[in-house]
Amino acid sequence: MTTITSEQRRGFGSTGLEVSPLGFGGAPIGLLEADKDAVREVLTALLDHGVNVIDTAAMYRGSEAMIGETIGHRRDEFVLISKCGHAIEESDAPAWSPKLIRASVERSLQNLRTDVIDVMLLHSCDLDTLKKGDGLGELVQLREEGKIRFVGYSGDNEAAVWAVAQPDVRVLQTSINICDQNNIDRVMPAAREHNVGVMVKRPIANAAWKDAAQYEQYKNYAQPYVERFKAMGLSLEMLGLEGDPAVLWPEIALRFTLTVPGVQTAIVGTTRPDRVPANLKAVAIGPLDDATFEQLRTAFRDADGSDQWDGQT
Ligand SMILES: NC(=O)c1ccc[n+]([C@@H]2O[C@H](COP(=O)([O-])OP(=O)(O)OC[C@H]3O[C@@H](n4cnc5c(N)ncnc54)[C@H](OP(=O)(O)O)[C@@H]3O)[C@@H](O)[C@H]2O)c1
Repeated sequence: MTTITSEQRRGFGSTGLEVSPLGFGGAPIGLLEADKDAVREVLTALLDHGVNVIDTAAMYRGSEAMIGETIGHRRDEFVLISKCGHAIEESDAPAWSPKLIRASVERSLQNLRTDVIDVMLLHSCDLDTLKKGDGLGELVQLREEGKIRFVGYSGDNEAAVWAVAQPDVRVLQTSINICDQNNIDRVMPAAREHNVGVMVKRPIANAAWKDAAQYEQYKNYAQPYVERFKAMGLSLEMLGLEGDPAVLWPEIALRFTLTVPGVQTAIVGTTRPDRVPANLKAVAIGPLDDATFEQLRTAFRDADGSDQWDGQT
């Protein structure tokens, strides 16, 4: 299996952290209640092969606890990112309130079996909530207390543009993939200008090339990208490629995301150990050539309604 070397790591904005281009997205392991042994295998293989970015969230049900249990003992080997702001069972404080954010971060620290979380993101609140400022203010306070190291925001479009201009926001998590390209033009220029660390969610478009029948519980979630993939008329033939679509599409999709200037890491979600070598291989092949990248950019711009579509937020 290919290993990502330390030379391949990318500077994470102004944080001083160095991140592997491939990261792990912890939503499916929690939301789909993955088998713990399989999760251990996935996470161990990723760490063993140079991946040092692990993303999760308070609202991904068992995700934080599974990460804490399976790789908590290797905590010094990875950059740990979690998210907060949604209501949690253990607190009656309203979503996005400072009290809720504090309770959620305390719970995350316990679940993740750590004394400090490297990056804590506000989990996709809307722009009005973000602008109130008390949520970000509480995260700054938690940073001052040493419970988190950097404050960030996970979201898209104008909320993301506003967030990255705040001096305390040092990391942005945003959607960018072959089927969802709005943030490349709308958000990335501001992210680069303010030198924030950029990590991409949904980096392989929820595997939108799969037949709907192959998705099981994931189907409704992936549907917008499945439709965009069709509207873009994407095919391997148009890219001059021949081979197994189940191998080539994830490769092209991940390489597309990592070719976008200013993207530092792409956090792919999976519950399956066999995805690890495939995704490492895609990273090892490297960026897409200019012609293929531009073809995919053009297909997105030419798809029906692209100029009115805000992407998957
Ligand atoms: N609002 C937010 O903050 C927000 C929203 C969405 C996502 N996120 C974060 O971003 C992460 C990634 O997003 P995501 O999980 O929604 O989407 P994604 O990474 O684009 O796609 C995940 C899907 O791809 C499949 N997959 C992974 N590797 C594959 C490969 N080599 N070949 C074929 N299929 C493959 C996985 O299924 P298998 O299990 O079958 O591999 C899963 O169905 C999340 O896990 C979460 O951490 C954050």
